[in-house]
Amino acid sequence: MASNEFQPLQGMSDINAPEIYIWRMIEEKARTIFNSYGYEELRTPVLEKLSVFKRSIGDTTDVVKKEMYAFKPGKHDIAMRPEGTAGTIRHLAGRGEEGLNARVFYIASMFRYERPQAGRKRQFHQIGVEATGEANPLADAECIALQQHLLEEWGLHGSKIQISTRGMPSDRKPVADGLRAALQPHLAELCDDCQRRIDENVLRVIDCKNESCQKIVDQIPTAIEFMSEGSRTYLDQVIQALEIMDIEVEVNPKLVRGLDYYVHTVWEITHGALGAQNAIAGGGRYEIALGKKAVPGVGFAMGMERVITSLEACGITADQFAPKGGVWLVSLGEAALAENMKLARKLRAKGVRCGMELEVKSMKAQMRKANRSGAEKAIIRGEDELAAGTVVVKDMNEGSQEELSLEDVIRDA
Ligand code: HAM
Repeated sequence: MASNEFQPLQGMSDINAPEIYIWRMIEEKARTIFNSYGYEELRTPVLEKLSVFKRSIGDTTDVVKKEMYAFKPGKHDIAMRPEGTAGTIRHLAGRGEEGLNARVFYIASMFRYERPQAGRKRQFHQIGVEATGEANPLADAECIALQQHLLEEWGLHGSKIQISTRGMPSDRKPVADGLRAALQPHLAELCDDCQRRIDENVLRVIDCKNESCQKIVDQIPTAIEFMSEGSRTYLDQVIQALEIMDIEVEVNPKLVRGLDYYVHTVWEITHGALGAQNAIAGGGRYEIALGKKAVPGVGFAMGMERVITSLEACGITADQFAPKGGVWLVSLGEAALAENMKLARKLRAKGVRCGMELEVKSMKAQMRKANRSGAEKAIIRGEDELAAGTVVVKDMNEGSQEELSLEDVIRDA
């Protein structure tokens, strides 16, 4: 991309019309659906103490280690949020008992200093929800159902839900030990990164994109096989609840997710239109420790840019949602221009979408503007109409026109 003084920073975008209309459609429909599931909107600050992210997302994750916009303007290390869960739980934990059984949603920009590529931005937008409360498979299933409902309402078809489990905190050690032991005989065949990851965070070996690592991972038992009975039953219960609701999911034990706060269920929604960065959404159950308390919850976040790319592949584009209709006032002469200013005020006060040129221009130029505005009707006035108290109303689609009394036009608007 050419870099010049009119471009935003790399990996960041201006969102203007007509594109903005698909953003608005997505947000409006999401708000309505969230409301029907009992979720309230929450807006947290973009900046938080760095520790809010470190202790929840995890010190060794890529997001915290490599991708944070972190700085120290005064005494405290602070960071721009890379995701919405950590700040949301920081807020809910501060609300005491009530915050431990709450449902909130957010629509907000997130910041990750990643290498920009198709579908991967440094400022991107998430629509997410968090529902706090003790682990309950039905809550996880309902959360996935809510996500699927959103996709349907937006008109997004062809996505796939993959699900797995991270198990309980007590499973971490047996899983890590089991995977390490199984990988050990193949150590030399793993990529350099994975040879390091095997000690640091062995789960990252499981979702390494390298083909030779994948071949080895396919030969060893899955992480789920090292988990306790309780963790496996929990996942089965989530899947059963989804089956009852006719929601199709694919169990993918290799699904790891790059954030450390997860326990039990994790999932991702992918779409074929997206290429390498194919996740529209990610979610899961988590426990986030704040002070001595671990806040349990479940939630998801959908990447709005990726949702829009997938929608476009389904034939749903921004201009379908551009505002249309209403009227365009055409003024033939100075006197008509002044009277039309008055008329515009009356029509707009009634909620009518109404545009006009603010200087006298040729009829042709004004009609061209009327056309471009998407107005349904042009209301044309010159000296004759002013004298008679009438207007000429032209139907922009059919081209027909008729002369009506000004009073009737205002009354029927
Ligand atoms: P995440 O998987 O890191 O999860 O992000 C969720 C979604 O945000 C991704 O599936 C993707 O669509 C979008 N996304 C992430 N990074 C980028 C990027 N650099 N450019 C464009 N889109 C991106 C979370 O953030 C968790 N907080 C989700 C969650 C909520 N889990 C429980 N509650």
